[in-house]
Amino acid sequence: MSSSRDCVEFEVNGEAVVVEHPDPNSSLGEYLRYGKGLSGLQLPCKQGGCGSCTVVLEGPDSMCGGVPVSSCLVPLCSVDGKKVTTVEGVGNVKEGLHPVQSAIVDHHGTQCGFCTPGFVMSMYGLLKSNPEPTAQQVEDQLDGNLCRCTGYRPIFDGFQTFAKRTTDNIHCSKAVNCTAAACQEDIEELGKSTSCMKKPRTLVFSKEGVTWARLTSLQELYGLLHGAKNRGDKVRVVRGNTSTGVYKPPSADFIADISEIPDLKKVSVDENGITLGGAVTITDFMDLLDLHKDLSPSYAPLHKHLKRVAHDQVRNVGSVAGNLVMAHGHGDFVSDVAAILMTAKAKIKVGSAYNNGQERILSLEEFYKISLDGLVILDIVIPVLGKNARVSTYKIALRRVNAHALMNAGFNMEVDTVKGIIEGNPVIVYGGVRKNPQRARNTEDFLKGKSIYDEKVCGMALDILREELILDHAFGRTEYRSTLLGAFLYKALLSLLPEDAVPASLRSSIMEYERPISTGEVNFDKGDPAEYPVSLPIPKLSASLQVTGEAQYMDDMVVGGGLFATYVTSDVANAVIKSIDPSEALSKRGVLTFISAATVKDDGYCNLVSEYEELFSTERVLYFGQPLGLIVADSKRVADEAAKLVKVDYAGIQKPILTIDDAIAKNSFYLDRGVDWQHGDTKRGFQMADTVIEGQVNTGHQYHHHLETQRTLCIPGEDSTMDVFSSTQDPAQVQHCVAVALNQPQHKITVNVKRIGGAYGAKLNRSASHAMACSIAAAKLKRPVRLVLDMATNMQSVGARSPYRCDYKIGVNKNGRIESLDLKIVNNHGSHFDFEYPDMYMIASFIDNTYNIPHWNIKGNVARTNLPGCTYMRGPVFVETVFMIETMVEHVASALQIPADIVRETNMYKPGDITPCGQKLDYCNAREVFSTLKKSSNYESRLKSIKNFNSANHFIKRGISIVPVKFNASWEAQQQIALVNVYPDGSVGIHTSGCEMGQGLDVKVAQVAAMTLGSLVKDGLDLTSIRVNSVTTIVANNCSESGGSVTSELAAMAVQRACERIVSRLQSTSKMLTTSKGKPGWGDLIQSGVDNGVDLQARGRVNPAASKCGPYQYVSFGAGVSEVEVDVLTGDTRVLRVDILLDCGKSLNPAVDIGQIQGAFIQGLGYYLSEEYRYNTDNGKLVTDSTWEYKIPSSKDIPHDFRAALLPNSSNPSGFLRSKFSGEPPYGLACSVIFAVRQAVASAKEQWGDNSWCSLSAPATVEKVALAASVPISALKIHKIRS
Ligand SMILES: Cc1cc2nc3c(=O)[nH]c(=O)nc-3n(C[C@H](O)[C@H](O)[C@H](O)COP(=O)(O)OP(=O)(O)OC[C@H]3O[C@@H](n4cnc5c(N)ncnc54)[C@H](O)[C@@H]3O)c2cc1C
Ligand code: FES
Ligand code: FES
Repeated sequence: MSSSRDCVEFEVNGEAVVVEHPDPNSSLGEYLRYGKGLSGLQLPCKQGGCGSCTVVLEGPDSMCGGVPVSSCLVPLCSVDGKKVTTVEGVGNVKEGLHPVQSAIVDHHGTQCGFCTPGFVMSMYGLLKSNPEPTAQQVEDQLDGNLCRCTGYRPIFDGFQTFAKRTTDNIHCSKAVNCTAAACQEDIEELGKSTSCMKKPRTLVFSKEGVTWARLTSLQELYGLLHGAKNRGDKVRVVRGNTSTGVYKPPSADFIADISEIPDLKKVSVDENGITLGGAVTITDFMDLLDLHKDLSPSYAPLHKHLKRVAHDQVRNVGSVAGNLVMAHGHGDFVSDVAAILMTAKAKIKVGSAYNNGQERILSLEEFYKISLDGLVILDIVIPVLGKNARVSTYKIALRRVNAHALMNAGFNMEVDTVKGIIEGNPVIVYGGVRKNPQRARNTEDFLKGKSIYDEKVCGMALDILREELILDHAFGRTEYRSTLLGAFLYKALLSLLPEDAVPASLRSSIMEYERPISTGEVNFDKGDPAEYPVSLPIPKLSASLQVTGEAQYMDDMVVGGGLFATYVTSDVANAVIKSIDPSEALSKRGVLTFISAATVKDDGYCNLVSEYEELFSTERVLYFGQPLGLIVADSKRVADEAAKLVKVDYAGIQKPILTIDDAIAKNSFYLDRGVDWQHGDTKRGFQMADTVIEGQVNTGHQYHHHLETQRTLCIPGEDSTMDVFSSTQDPAQVQHCVAVALNQPQHKITVNVKRIGGAYGAKLNRSASHAMACSIAAAKLKRPVRLVLDMATNMQSVGARSPYRCDYKIGVNKNGRIESLDLKIVNNHGSHFDFEYPDMYMIASFIDNTYNIPHWNIKGNVARTNLPGCTYMRGPVFVETVFMIETMVEHVASALQIPADIVRETNMYKPGDITPCGQKLDYCNAREVFSTLKKSSNYESRLKSIKNFNSANHFIKRGISIVPVKFNASWEAQQQIALVNVYPDGSVGIHTSGCEMGQGLDVKVAQVAAMTLGSLVKDGLDLTSIRVNSVTTIVANNCSESGGSVTSELAAMAVQRACERIVSRLQSTSKMLTTSKGKPGWGDLIQSGVDNGVDLQARGRVNPAASKCGPYQYVSFGAGVSEVEVDVLTGDTRVLRVDILLDCGKSLNPAVDIGQIQGAFIQGLGYYLSEEYRYNTDNGKLVTDSTWEYKIPSSKDIPHDFRAALLPNSSNPSGFLRSKFSGEPPYGLACSVIFAVRQAVASAKEQWGDNSWCSLSAPATVEKVALAASVPISALKIHKIRS
């Protein structure tokens, strides 16, 4: 093996880079971000699961032209000789944005912006390889990018402009003579790669005992494997290295990179089929299948299935062979690739490194039975099947793309369509039954020679299948998987029938779901020119910084001499700590200290976050993941590794209490935290009612999934001062808690927040403890310390939205009028209170939603469980209680056989009504909003069509639901501050106490400032003169948190007050300068003001008093209609159309408010359909603590057609500038989706005679939906409609 210099050489954004002594375990993403300082890419998950780290990689062969990849998975050492483009190389603010970046800005496609560079790079990568993409290709391109804020709609709207583009209609927003490298590239030129790199070279180098070896021939590989065996060294072979996104790689002495071995990269196509080398990527395989789809009946179905394997960034480097080997080593991995290749009768050629390269050809079944020690996959042959072969494959996952299969299957059968006989040897493969894909041999044998027209065959085959494929319970979801076993076979057999022989009602069951290109529509009023730029749809102030990766988040700050901290957390949930021994960790090179409850006390710091919560556990562990201490080291990696070396001994380990049912069984409650709340006289109400209905509804956890995890940087200064940079929504709370932790007065603590990469409530109360821990470390070591939680720790240790159970009793009249409600509500809050949250009285504020129900009785209890204390999550209590009351409404409708929308209208508030919590609804347009949407969405005619569709289709069902919401503006006691500085050059700097986290606060306050200050001058004040600066407690002292949807308007009000002060001081100067030609220009006015000594700094503060109407300043109404389609055999749900109408009064910025609607609704979609928490019931570990297991909606889950509108001609006399908020109300509307699903399921159940109330709890995952539908086995019939 030839040796080379100890370095990798490649290009980054056109610049040659040499990395000396690279670490074989380092990723490209880590190097770019931390080594090169290219902080545009983010590394939230390091699992290939989110897309935020996407860069474009260009190399020889398949990478020629450039492809998007997940840089967190690409080994740094593997990019030698390649070209890397990051977002910084695409375009920048100074020289001009690239059209891809402009498209996002122009379509309002950013909120927090943390994900944005990843989207830019995915689209840029597509255009590099394909400058003229089709709309479908654009739609497919974002399958590896997650966005938690925008709901994807505006990003698609921006990117779809490239699908129709001509050279004329895409313009770079930069100046004509821009010299930015990327902008010199015409879009057309993007696809024509200039050079395809030089020949890859062999590389061998070592660091810290690990050797990286890039091999360029099979002989080198065999030699390395053989030699290592003789020496007893461990070798890890890597191609794309993407398997490390799923499973942590085993430690190895050698990492053997096979991606440049020519023999393994070969592909060929001939009459025998497609042959892939052992290093060929899934993308290249897909291209071949597509190109040769007519060669074999298996190729098109394989291609289609592969589109649902991983995502573009993974498929571009991840290999077919790597997937097969990964499945070999990890029995719990349900590989799609293995299942479909087994179906297609693929053969694998392996070579033995220990046996002079001796080759064997194996079937997939044989492959999974042998040891792979010393074997290399050389080739995979996917044969050409006979023309009568019918291949169908299936996959069920928690979401459409970028999600592993819960179960998959493949069927390959030959049929004589004239006689209907199954000929040859059928192949039936199931993945997810137990370890490795399984052939259903007995079922195959049974079907051989049988007639598909024989009605008995299907039933008998299903019986045999269930008998032979015994499900391994360790895979979980046994009942559901058992349902899927039958469902897949039934579909496959049905699809063997000639089209005209399939009964019409069953045709939709075999038609594969083809997701159309999604579309959207937005509508809002033009706004009031007298108030411009207020009311204009102006892009976010930071949008250009976000799309270029120049926007700075907390962890992007570079600080000299900084240290890194990592939590040591518990790995049991209910035990006593016997001892903590950090000695091994402390002996590791680079580790500076270990901080625990004991050292905090010894050092004179405070270990209490609040009266309910310890910073580090002193004695008892209350939940898995509880912080026990903090390791501080000179690098993040050392800190992470050392944290694992801290030994904790426990005593009295008990089974954790995890669920509400567990808590009820163990009588584990916070006794002083319940509520017993009455309104009216429920006894009388029930007496007046014609019917009493009882039921139960449950909701689950929801993780915020902010891509920027909890993080803090603490920089100690002179005289025990501390500068804290935190990604918090509540700087004042952080300041208070850090001061308490350090035992210092608050004036020594300054908290700064520039922007937050997603929060959704998680950073209201949950940031303080991390800031405390980090500040103690910084104070103790007198050096800057950074604490950045990884995603798993964030999910394990930080609370989420809390689950609820509601048992209800409804007294209702026969016309649907609800008279009385008796509710028993239990909230699973976890092991401690999150400061004072939850306040059970919040239930009473929201649970009425839009309904005037006279009599209420609510008994609320808070369950104490072994989970982290739950916390605020967007629309806390509101979202859950709206779902409860709307479920009751649905139940009433179902029991009384009255349409649900009529029950809603029957009970809806009218102007002048008073809510149970005493709010007088003077301006109540609930009915207007509801009826306007009902009309504009054609609800009634669509309901009729759905009924027709459902009676014509047996297993594919549709549902539609319209839901209203009311949301309360909680202004009282909110304190917001603004400081406005006008500088001599006319530029304006604003500080507010409101944190920008994507909700568009900055642009709204800038618009208000421009309107107010601009009133003095001729042409108004341009927004470009205004800068909104970081939040700092130096300005924003003693302020409220940013939350509850109201911060933007209150911060804008504070800005307006400050600006008005400056305006009044400048009035006389303005008058003086006003001539017959009108008012002065801004520059002249300010210059003159400065000359005359006018004070151009002003502060504004708002601290609203109680409203005259009740506890809330105003209430806002909205309505949403969702239409869904459900495959009741599998539970697969698609959202066909959503219409939202929200009353935003006179919107301050309609683009921002529409963005809030789209984003909140899609977060709600995840809550109701796919986001599921699963725990290990023995030790309380959250099993779904990663992007691999926890599934927020992807770009392929959003409604096919999404229409969002603001109520026209609206106003709000009680709001700031007659506006209303938008952040949380639309979230509540997402429950219309689950009710539409419920309706679809109920319609299916009616077919098999089950008319009982069908309830769905949140989240209604594919599993829950299929189990709710509970299709009886007897319904799986194949009717004979041919003689
Ligand atoms: C976010 C994400 C989502 C995913 N979703 C899916 C999904 O929906 N369905 C699905 O089926 N898969 C999915 N995967 C798995 C993905 O397909 C695999 O990670 C990928 O195919 C592995 O290929 P690789 O080249 O990166 O393998 P590597 O990570 O490089 O290697 C994996 C293993 O294969 C061995 N190996 C590689 N090539 C050879 C060879 N020629 N001979 C012998 N051994 C070899 C390596 O030694 C290693 O043990 C997903 C992965 C990620 C990260
Ligand atoms: S950090 Fe790479 S995909 Fe999430
Ligand atoms: S804008 Fe996409 S995650 Fe915030």
